[in-house]
Amino acid sequence: MQPHQSGIMLENIDLTLGSNASRVHVLNDISLKIQSGESVGIVGPSGSGKSTLLMVLAGLEKVDSGKVLISGERIDQMSEDQAAAFRGRNIGIVFQSFHLIPNMTALENVAVPLELAGRDDAFTVAEQALKSVGLGHRLSHYPSALSGGEQQRVAIARALAPKPAILIADEPTGNLDSETGGQIADLLFAKQQEYGLTMVLVTHDPSLAARCAREIHVRSGQIHAEPVHAAEEPVPAEAAQ
Ligand SMILES: Nc1ncnc2c1ncn2[C@@H]1O[C@H](COP(=O)(O)OP(=O)(O)O)[C@@H](O)[C@H]1O
Ligand SMILES: [Mg+2]
Repeated sequence: MQPHQSGIMLENIDLTLGSNASRVHVLNDISLKIQSGESVGIVGPSGSGKSTLLMVLAGLEKVDSGKVLISGERIDQMSEDQAAAFRGRNIGIVFQSFHLIPNMTALENVAVPLELAGRDDAFTVAEQALKSVGLGHRLSHYPSALSGGEQQRVAIARALAPKPAILIADEPTGNLDSETGGQIADLLFAKQQEYGLTMVLVTHDPSLAARCAREIHVRSGQIHAEPVHAAEEPVPAEAAQ
């Protein structure tokens, strides 16, 4: 059973991290299929394995066992260099804390990864990407001169500039006030529609998760059909992984 185009398939993923007494069974027999063009919200308590699951999808975290198929390719079997090149072409990633390079302008933050990937048109493409997220007037600003919402727009432009088929986002509104977070969510869903992206979004925000076509509940490294009971939800403040 192969997912078509930009589908994602996890089969019986197990992952244990840490050593000796601090060993944690972070992902416990996770199987999951996400269709090409589908939007999926991943919700669950802090420490339940959501960020690790995204890192596994992106080939940034190795699994102990199981298969990770992205667009039909075994990203879990690739070398680090192969996975990085594959990610560059196929997967955009957005983090809670933006992860912009402070001594580069908005334009450079978007263009430099394209340049490193060998694109001659890096700066033209980067400018278009920034315009498409409403930041055409902020090209030469440094991250410190941008608001949180603007920094996240730069990060989204950077993630989408290579035209990936898959976008994954880890608490993309987690560091923003609710109004700005809502605008960033609107932007993500607009781009998902515009490009037909497969979007996997980790969030503590139930209203954001509810905007996805499907919600997946993770608890203690396992997928649950039913939501975790509200009283057991932790505080939303959570370090970005
Ligand atoms: N490198 C590591 N070594 C040991 N434990 C880890 C490591 N990375 C994450 N963990 C543990 O794995 C669990 C899941 O972490 P994470 O995926 O960040 O959860 P979430 O994003 O849902 O808050 C947590 O208990 C965390 O402490
Ligand atoms: Mg996390």
